Amino acid sequence: MENHGICEREMVNNYISEKARIGENVKVWHFAYVGDNSEIGDNVKIGSLSHVDYDVKIGENTMVEGLVYIPPLTRIGKNVFIGPAVALTNDPYPPSEKLVGVIIDDNAIIGSKAVIKAGVRIGKNSVVAMGAVVTKDVPSDTVVIGSPARQMYSRQEYDKKQLDWKNSI
Ligand SMILES: CC(C)(COP(=O)(O)OP(=O)(O)OC[C@H]1O[C@@H](n2cnc3c(N)ncnc32)[C@H](O)[C@@H]1OP(=O)(O)O)[C@@H](O)C(=O)NCCC(=O)NCCS
Repeated sequence: MENHGICEREMVNNYISEKARIGENVKVWHFAYVGDNSEIGDNVKIGSLSHVDYDVKIGENTMVEGLVYIPPLTRIGKNVFIGPAVALTNDPYPPSEKLVGVIIDDNAIIGSKAVIKAGVRIGKNSVVAMGAVVTKDVPSDTVVIGSPARQMYSRQEYDKKQLDWKNSI
């Protein structure tokens, strides 16, 4: 098994296809997989046991935590956070040969164990709550929650909560 194109290649036991395009300062942690023809931008981190299949694109500075499933045709923007054990899907009626990837726009945050339906687009700056099941497109700057996911509040309100959290003792 050959590791390819990362600074940790001597230390980290993972699999990265030789046909994948890997940016600068990318870290792919233990037992993670990156398939053929995927493009991983600069400074991306992919956590342990995550699966990035073929024909995936991930923009710069995006963080993918451990145990995340990213199927073929997924498009993920820049500065995105994908929490632990998130499942993105690409086949609404499996097993079928007609696949459509999820799109996650720049600066979005996907909470742990969220599941996102094939073909759904998560808008720029939006937040998906932990455990949400997202069945429809999420507009920009919106926080969604639950199953099926519904609008909860705005990204502005989320940022205020995050700031209050950072500043609390
Ligand atoms: C979406 C999120 C930011 C909401 O947090 P919040 O605004 O502090 O929400 P609160 O905890 O005040 O809860 C508000 C209400 O929503 C409910 N709720 C909160 N998060 C929920 C979730 N993910 N799913 C379902 N209900 C949720 C609460 O039970 C509460 O209900 P109530 O009013 O009936 O009591 C947070 O739940 C979340 O998902 N954060 C991401 C965490 C994560 O995945 N981290 C990954 C790195 S470890």
